[in-house]
Amino acid sequence: MHRVVSNQELAPAVHRLVVEAPAIARARRPGQFVIVRLDHGHERIPLTIADADPAAGTITLVVQAVGFSTRAIVATPPGGWIRDIAGPLGSPTHLIAQGFAVCVGGGVGTAVVHPIAEALHRAGVRLCSIIGGRSRPYVIYHEELARLGEVRVCTDDGSWGRPGLVTDELRALCAERRPDIVYAVGPVPMMQAVVAVTRPLAIPTIVSLNPVMVDGTGMCGGCRVTVGGEVRFACVDGPEFDGFLVDFTELRQRLATYRAFERAACAEEECRARAAGAPARNQP
Ligand code: NAD
Ligand code: FES
Repeated sequence: MHRVVSNQELAPAVHRLVVEAPAIARARRPGQFVIVRLDHGHERIPLTIADADPAAGTITLVVQAVGFSTRAIVATPPGGWIRDIAGPLGSPTHLIAQGFAVCVGGGVGTAVVHPIAEALHRAGVRLCSIIGGRSRPYVIYHEELARLGEVRVCTDDGSWGRPGLVTDELRALCAERRPDIVYAVGPVPMMQAVVAVTRPLAIPTIVSLNPVMVDGTGMCGGCRVTVGGEVRFACVDGPEFDGFLVDFTELRQRLATYRAFERAACAEEECRARAAGAPARNQP
C-alpha cells in the first residue's frame, strides 16, 4: 500500500499526486513509468514518473481524470492509499550529451517532458521547451521548466503565449535555430504533427507512446505498437521511440478500441456512487 502525501489540482481534471514509494524513488530514471492500480476492481493505469525524491521516498505522478479508474485516483486525498504501484518500468530516455534540444509538451504530456528536460539540463544540454494547452489554465509545468531554460507557451485560444498549436511554435523555432533533437510528449495527433515538422528537416525526434497496457512487463502484448515495420512492446522496448518510425495510424486505432467500455464503466460508477453516497475504500 502506498500513502498519498499530497494531491494538487494543476489544471482542470489534471492532478499532481506525491505518493510514498521509496524503492521506486531510488531506482527510477527519466522516461520510466509505473503502473498504478488504485484498488481491487480498478484498471492498471500506466503513468510516467514526473519526479522523484529519493530522500523523502516519494514519487510524483500527474494524472488526467478521463475514465473510471483515473477519476478515482485523482479523488484520493492526502492520507489516502493506492493499493499497487509497479515499477519503475520501461527503458530510460536516450539523452544526448551536448547540443541544443527542444522538448515539446502538449497538455498533460508536459508533465512527462519535465523529467526529460531536467536530465538534459543536468547533462549540460541547451534547452528550449515548447508547451501548450487548450487555454491558460491547461498549461502546466511552466514554472518548473522555466528553471531549466527557455520556455515558449502556446494556447489554442491565445489566452497565454502564441495563439495556436505547439507545432506552430516548433516550426518557427526550427527556422530560427536548428535543434539537434526534439523530444515530444502529448496527444498522439500532436506527436504525429511534430514528426511532420521535423521529418522534412531530418531533425531526430523521440516520442513517448501511451498505448493500452496491462502487465507492463512484455507478457500480454496489450501495448504493442509498430515501429519501423516491426512489432514492439511499449512497456519494455519503450515507451520512447524514434518518431519517424512509429505507425501513428495503427496506434490511434488501437487507443480507440476500449472507448465504449470506458464510457459504460463511467456511467455504471456514477449510478453506483449516486445510489450509495458512500466514500471509496481508499479514503483515509
Ligand atoms: P489537448 O488535446 O488539450 O492538447 C494539448 C496541446 O497539444 C494543444 O494545446 C496543442 O498545442 C497540442 N496539440 C493537440 N493536438 C494537436 C495536433 N493535432 N497538432 C498539433 N498540436 C496538437 O491535450 P490533453 O487533453 O492535455 O492531453 C490528453 C492526451 O495526452 C491524452 O490522449 C493522453 O493519452 C495523452 N498523454 C500522452 C502521454 C504520453 O506519454 N504520450 C502522457 C500523458 C498524456
Ligand atoms: Fe503487456 Fe506491454 S503491457 S506487453
